[in-house]
Amino acid sequence: MAPLPRITAITVLAAAVLYVFTLDPSNMASLSRIAAIVVLAAAVLYVPVRRWAAGGVCESQARMDGKTVIITGANTGIGKVTARDMAERGARVILACRSLEKAEEAAKEIRNQTGNKNVVVHKLDLASLASVRQFAKVINDAEASLDVLINNAGVMGCPRWETEDGFEMQFGVNHLGHFLLTNLLLDLLKKSAPSRVVTVSSLGHAFTSGIDFDDINYEKDYDKGESYRRSKLANVLFSRELARRLEGTGVTSNSLHPGVIYTELHRYQEKLIHGAVGARFSKVANKIIEGFVGTFGKTMEEGAQTTICCAVAEEWQNTTGLYFSDCVPKEPSAAGKDDEAAARLWDVSERMVGLKS
Ligand SMILES: NC(=O)c1ccc[n+]([C@@H]2O[C@H](COP(=O)([O-])OP(=O)(O)OC[C@H]3O[C@@H](n4cnc5c(N)ncnc54)[C@H](OP(=O)(O)O)[C@@H]3O)[C@@H](O)[C@H]2O)c1
Ligand SMILES: *[C@@H]1O[C@H](CO)[C@@H](O)[C@H](O)[C@H]1NC(C)=O
Ligand SMILES: *[C@@H]1O[C@H](CO)[C@@H](O)[C@H](O)[C@H]1NC(C)=O
Repeated sequence: MAPLPRITAITVLAAAVLYVFTLDPSNMASLSRIAAIVVLAAAVLYVPVRRWAAGGVCESQARMDGKTVIITGANTGIGKVTARDMAERGARVILACRSLEKAEEAAKEIRNQTGNKNVVVHKLDLASLASVRQFAKVINDAEASLDVLINNAGVMGCPRWETEDGFEMQFGVNHLGHFLLTNLLLDLLKKSAPSRVVTVSSLGHAFTSGIDFDDINYEKDYDKGESYRRSKLANVLFSRELARRLEGTGVTSNSLHPGVIYTELHRYQEKLIHGAVGARFSKVANKIIEGFVGTFGKTMEEGAQTTICCAVAEEWQNTTGLYFSDCVPKEPSAAGKDDEAAARLWDVSERMVGLKS
């Protein structure tokens, strides 16, 4: 968003909040006075708040010539920005996407913007184990090396849909699909060491108490928000356990929170709010959230920085088993450091995706 619409959005938002929560609407004098204060406060606070929200920047100038990078869900959002950055650094970039049409569109744009012709697309639907296996076969058969695997794709807040294999969609795509994918590419990653696995999680992982191993497929009292948070906790635990298992191989594994960014990830948001505030207010509530995230949130370029750092920065070359935010390691939640749960999740996941019977 350009600065002017942003400031307008802040003002409208703040005025709306005040109107709803604090004002006596019969007193117009107080209304205009408060409106003036809001406008002033928004103007003064805009720059510092935005600077704070922008977060860290990946300062690394590392080149990626001769290196191969796979990014899941790279046709849009922060995955696409990450793919463009890798292409700019000279990498061979593989966009792993469920829609070949959307992926080819993105690849064309990236090739054009970066002049790097080595940007290719392959079909990967994380909601299908068969598709994950097929994708991994294509990569293992054709690619001489794999230097960075970026598990970026994600789905948030959808109804209780199921994947092709009958897994609850958010856990199935965000965690299980990436779990199988990473395992099937491990030999190639080890052969290419030093190499890196980067898993895009979320701060949302900290707002759930843990994985429910008694109802891993969320059959009971499905809560779309909680399901997303658990799947993102699974990302943190998976990344940590993977790092433990890869010790000494030269392959690192880290997870991260990219920030809050207005992307297509919010495509189910209106329905989500609909449930909370009812049909009448869901449209306006959605607009307010949209304005809020669009105003104070990161741009997609800012949102991709931590992923890029974890993928290329020399200073993190030997760093593994950590959780990043704003381009530096941060503490995950207590549940995100539960090594027993991480080991158990690994075991359960292996059975679910058929790596172990
Ligand atoms: N945006 C935020 O504020 C935020 C905050 C914290 C964490 N994150 C995480 O950041 C990552 C990227 O999110 P984003 O904001 O860039 O979202 P986005 O714009 O919605 O992009 C998500 C990508 O994942 C792909 N995807 C979804 N389901 C898939 C499937 N079954 N198989 C393969 N690909 C699939 C999408 O493909 P289609 O275009 O075909 O649907 C899209 O390319 C996610 O892991 C998300 O959890 C985002
Ligand atoms: C990108 O596309 C524009 C417009 O079609 C074209 O003029 C330009 O030469 C292209 N650049 C590259 C590097 O292909
Ligand atoms: C990482 O380890 C390698 C091999 O031991 C070493 O050459 C390199 O300097 C290390 N890099 C960092 C940033 O610690």
